[in-house]
Amino acid sequence: MGSLTGFPDGFEVGVSTAAYQIEGAAAEDGRGPSIWDTFAHTPGKTLGGDTGDVACDHYHRMGEDLGLMAGLGVAAYRFSIAWPRIQPDGSGEPHRLGLDFYDRLVDGLLERGIAAVPTLFHWDLPQALEDQGGWLSRETSFRFAEYAGIVADRLGDRVSRWITLNEPIVHMAQGYAFGSHAPGQALGFEALPVAHHQLLGHGLAVAALRAHGAAQVMITNNCTPVWPASGDEADQAAAMIYDGFHNRLFNDPVLLGKYPDFLGAMLEPVVHDGDLAIIRTPIDALGVNYYNPTRVGAPTQEDLPFDMRAIDEFPLTAFGWPVVPDGLHELLTGLKATYGDDLPPVYITENGCSTDEGTKDQFRIDYLDKHLGAVKRAIADGVDVRGYYVWSLLDNFEWAEGYSQRFGLVHVDFETQERTPKDSYHWLAAALR
Ligand code: FCB
Repeated sequence: MGSLTGFPDGFEVGVSTAAYQIEGAAAEDGRGPSIWDTFAHTPGKTLGGDTGDVACDHYHRMGEDLGLMAGLGVAAYRFSIAWPRIQPDGSGEPHRLGLDFYDRLVDGLLERGIAAVPTLFHWDLPQALEDQGGWLSRETSFRFAEYAGIVADRLGDRVSRWITLNEPIVHMAQGYAFGSHAPGQALGFEALPVAHHQLLGHGLAVAALRAHGAAQVMITNNCTPVWPASGDEADQAAAMIYDGFHNRLFNDPVLLGKYPDFLGAMLEPVVHDGDLAIIRTPIDALGVNYYNPTRVGAPTQEDLPFDMRAIDEFPLTAFGWPVVPDGLHELLTGLKATYGDDLPPVYITENGCSTDEGTKDQFRIDYLDKHLGAVKRAIADGVDVRGYYVWSLLDNFEWAEGYSQRFGLVHVDFETQERTPKDSYHWLAAALR
């Protein structure tokens, strides 16, 4: 049970979820449709045709879920706000019932001594905005800032730390480049403006949140250490390009105010004067989601400048993702080496694994234990890491994989909605005590 000893005072352990993955109540209380409703209801897009219509029914079971968090003893809860509950048509007057739901959630957290850490965008864009071009349209950045201001106006007196976007790389790549996530567009490199418009939306939202008194603002990026397949020049070059697309495209403009050169050239048509200064609006912390490193080799297909190669010398999660705790240490010390004093404090806003062990989840316990150990070593090596949030509190709707991948500390029976804390829940609760 040594995993939580030896962390600096105030190190914050939390749990993460996202609205579409847990809330359900998709058409209730005036919520508008999001791109994920449309996508999941399109035949063939998700495993088994699963949708988030009901998910964990958290919308109706918030009290029980708050109780689970209190029992765990976490200091923070990272959840996301469903934009289509707040602006069902993507713009205009806020919808009172939507705001009321998050108001109750925030109050419930504070009553239990748990910090509320909302993410404003975890991929569920109002469908009405997608119909106007989604994140391919610059206008969406401004709509996002407007929405951020509305939410902060209502919750800002009780929320001190905000996250603008979740994993803009994954939303761009899966949603707009490859089409495996909503909105299901397969535009290849034509998807790149989605990166810039999300980042511009982030920068504008930072200002909107601050204008409403937000104490701390951050962005959550999915980051991965990139391993060249070999020492060959062609593999190394491909790895650099991949690192550019996955990591630096999103960290450099936020922390340094510029794009990596080759990406800046590709983005030139959509970057206006002054945009990078907005994107670089100072943030208070960087959220990092880490799951695994990525091995990359020289391209073998014409349409991509790199090739993904298997990492098969480590244990795999049920999802087939390699378990590499050292990769988290490598990532954190690498961020420090790259950005130096421009790197703000870091929170690991997601880390966890899917397993099919049911409630006897020793695999997850080992996973969390080792990754916490990696964070501790990174702190000892000089990286200012302030917190670690487990993905996820509950088994939930894992996007294109539907309900097949279980990431929860708490098992959910999706027939009955019965929640059963797993061994990992009890392990973490004991460690937190
Ligand atoms: C991340 C997502 C999160 C969850 C985990 C497993 O990329 O942010 O919603 O799906 O992966």
